[in-house]
This record gives sequence, structure tokens and C-alpha cells, in this order.
Amino acid sequence: MGVTAVLMLPLLLLGISGLLFIYQEVSRLWSKSAVQNKVVVITDAISGLGKECARVFHTGGARLVLCGKNWERLEMLYDALISVADPSKQTFTPKLVLLDLSDISCVQDVAKEVLDCYGCVDILINNASVKVKGPAHKISLELDKKIMDANYFGPITLTKALLPNMISRRTGQIVLVNNIQGKLGIPFRTAYAASKHAALGFFDCLRAEVEEYDVLVSTVSPTFIRSYHVYPGHGNWEASIWKFFFRKLTYGVHPVDVAEEVMRTVRRKKQEVFMANPIPKAAVYIRTFFPEFFFAVVACGVREKLSVPEEG
Ligand SMILES: NC(=O)c1ccc[n+]([C@@H]2O[C@H](COP(=O)([O-])OP(=O)(O)OC[C@H]3O[C@@H](n4cnc5c(N)ncnc54)[C@H](OP(=O)(O)O)[C@@H]3O)[C@@H](O)[C@H]2O)c1
Repeated sequence: MGVTAVLMLPLLLLGISGLLFIYQEVSRLWSKSAVQNKVVVITDAISGLGKECARVFHTGGARLVLCGKNWERLEMLYDALISVADPSKQTFTPKLVLLDLSDISCVQDVAKEVLDCYGCVDILINNASVKVKGPAHKISLELDKKIMDANYFGPITLTKALLPNMISRRTGQIVLVNNIQGKLGIPFRTAYAASKHAALGFFDCLRAEVEEYDVLVSTVSPTFIRSYHVYPGHGNWEASIWKFFFRKLTYGVHPVDVAEEVMRTVRRKKQEVFMANPIPKAAVYIRTFFPEFFFAVVACGVREKLSVPEEG
């Protein structure tokens, strides 16, 4: 009996590994078929997450429209995508488009250019945004407006310009890459959090409106996306082990993981995704059910921060 059990164990492990492998392969092929031949527009395809989304969707066989503010960086991305293209897989040459989301007439022109070129947009990924950090009284109203233009009015203008086409074709998906700050107000992020709250509000309302036309609205809200250049520093082994197990909390989630989550969101037609660790997730619930407690904790954090003398 003992010997049989020992022999069975490797077979069991082999079986499980085989099943996992098959699941991953089927999942990969399914992902691919979900975007194969689809016209996918990515705003700000040149930053960390946008670039990874471009790579994932390009590999998946999408007809990409890569938007960005900087032509040279768009061309660099184009070259990078073309140079790694696998000849055994069908991929399409991406279309590059200069887009400044703060310029509303430019946004409308871009929507027209894309529709004239492809006749439709299947998936719109609203990814671009501007961040600002600082006390509200030190941030000019001009900057507040700039943030609202780039993070709210820009994405909704592009969405509204493409929506009639999706509605008439009775198909399409709009993905908003948001931030958990669209649900939680964090001190010193007034304008950014306000723009993310506004965008989330708009797309949550839109979701219900367009459902009857088979147009899907998805929001993906990460907490903190790691910069490519930040790596765990050297420290004592306890700190390193802690950092290894809680690295996503410490350094944020990698742009590749977020891009793959965006792809999964499209494939599984998910409506809302929070890419957050238990602490920020709990904070969203605490903010909802115990607002006074949440405000007190946040205010306490600010008092502590302000009482620490600034370096230099
Ligand atoms: N980074 C994070 O920790 C984090 C966390 C949660 C959610 N997110 C969300 O994830 C998305 C991508 O973030 P990211 O960190 O990868 O981006 P990022 O590195 O902050 O870069 C932002 C990009 O947006 C571009 N941009 C700014 N204003 C624009 C405008 N008016 N029109 C067109 N493009 C404009 C910037 O171009 P320029 O550099 O030329 O200005 C830059 O390439 C954003 O929606 C962000 O809110 C980020």
C-alpha cells in the first residue's frame, strides 16, 4: 500500500502539471482568438502600461492603433513590435496616431481618422492619464483643469466619438484603465483622484446605457504600477524575504501583469477589476461602511507626515 502510494504521487503530480499546461495553452489560444483581427485603439501606448498592452495585443493578432503625444516614441514602439514579430503568427502592422487628449478637437479628428481607416473600432483602451501630487492649495486651478482634460474630458470625448459606430454595429468594448483612487480619496492627490472618480462615474453610468446594444464597458483599477527601473534594494535577509513575499505591495505590480489583466478583462468580458492587495481592498470597504473611521485614519496619516521635518 505504502509503495503504491509513493508510486502514485509522481503520476498524480505529472497529471496535474499536464492539466495545468493544457489549461494555460487553451487559455492563451482563447486570449488570442478574442482579439485576433480586432481593431484595438490604445491611448498613450508609449508609457509603461500602454507599451505592454501594445505588445500583448499585437502578439494576439489585433489591428492596433497606437496613440501617443510623441511621434519619435511611437516610432520606437512600432520598430520594437515589428522586430519581434513571430512570422509563424499572424500579426498586423500597427497604425500610429499622434494624440493629445487635452486637445478636444484633436481627439475628435483622431476618432474620425481611425474610423475612416478601419471602418470600426472593436476595443478602445483608455489608458492615458496625467498624475500630480501636492497639497491642494499649492496646485493651480490651471493644473487642476489640465488634469481633468487629460484624465476625464479626453477619454470621454474619444469614447463618445467612437460609440455611435459601436452601437450601430451592436458590438464593441471600452476599457478604462483607472486607479483605486477613483474609489478612494487620498491626500495630496486631489486633482488626480477627482479626475479618476469622474471617469469611473462616467463609465459606470455608460455601462448600463449601452448594454442593450451589446457594447461592454470594463474598468481595470490597479493600486500601484511598478516602474521598470525600481528593483528591491540590498538589505538584511529578513527585509528581503518580507519584500520578496510582499513585493507587489512594496514595489507595485509590474506593467506586464496589468497588461495581461487588461487582456483577460477583454477576453472574459469582465465589467470591473480591482488589482489591489488586501489592504487597499479593505480600505475601499471601510470607506463605504465606516467613513468616519476611514477619514480619521487618513487624517492621522497626514498629521504624522506633516510632523516629520522635511529632509534638506
Ligand atoms: N503608475 C501607477 O502606479 C498607476 C497606478 C494605478 C493606475 N494607473 C493608471 O494606469 C494608466 C497608465 O499609467 P502609467 O503609469 O503606465 O503611465 P505613466 O507612466 O504615468 O505615463 C503617462 C503617460 O500619459 C501620457 N499623457 C499625459 N498627458 C497626455 C495627454 N494629454 N494626451 C496623451 N497622452 C498623455 C504621458 O505622456 P508625456 O510623458 O509625454 O506627458 C505619459 O506617456 C493610467 O491611466 C494611470 O492612471 C497607474
